[in-house]
Amino acid sequence: MGMKTEPRCIVAPSILAANFSRAGEAVSLVEETTAQWLHLDVMDGMFVPNISFGPKFIEDLRPLSSLIFDTHLMIEKPERYIADFAACGSDCITVHAEATVHLNRVINAIHNEGKQAGVSLVPSTPVSALDFIIDEVELVLVMSVNPGFGGQKFIASSIRKIEELATLRKKHNLQYRISVDGGVSLHNASHLIEAGADVLVMGSAFFKAEDKKQLVYQVQGL
Ligand code: DX5
Ligand code: ZN
Repeated sequence: MGMKTEPRCIVAPSILAANFSRAGEAVSLVEETTAQWLHLDVMDGMFVPNISFGPKFIEDLRPLSSLIFDTHLMIEKPERYIADFAACGSDCITVHAEATVHLNRVINAIHNEGKQAGVSLVPSTPVSALDFIIDEVELVLVMSVNPGFGGQKFIASSIRKIEELATLRKKHNLQYRISVDGGVSLHNASHLIEAGADVLVMGSAFFKAEDKKQLVYQVQGL
């Protein structure tokens, strides 16, 4: 089942949808597919209503996998924890534009740790919030549900936000990847890729899939 050409998208299964008592096995399930990234959702009970896990969890998973660790910080004032989330083995650290006043400083801090930097927007935040930071980041993560929980319904207006980001990228000749997170499945994947998404985060769609390898293969073939 070899892939003929480079896949058009990166698939990033989200560990949030796994059973945390068997997190190592969940990583193996991802490793057995051709998914390229592992998405790690960190929630603080303040920026979002839910609490998930911290750097130790990521640190414990790190030796089990050579996947790109894509850490999504849904925490207030992420500047407090950049060093910790770099040290635990993240490859890319994404913070929310809404979670800090000093977004430029946080992005610089991530780069100073030698990591890729991402910025994320909740569904109600416009792309214009990124006007003065967009040329500094490697990733823009579009939340297509209100962050906090897996298994929610995809918010359709996210498509327009992805398109806007893709247009802006082309216009200014920028390089950032566009990631989409929340309610992503095989059902809407082609739509998202058409709109300009490069990274598809999949929580429940991945972990509920009977044949995970086939799911990832199908998405990468779109
Ligand atoms: C939601 C998280 C997502 C979540 C997606 O706040 O940021 O990464 O795991 O889960 P699904 O794919 O089930 O919507
Ligand atoms: Zn996420």
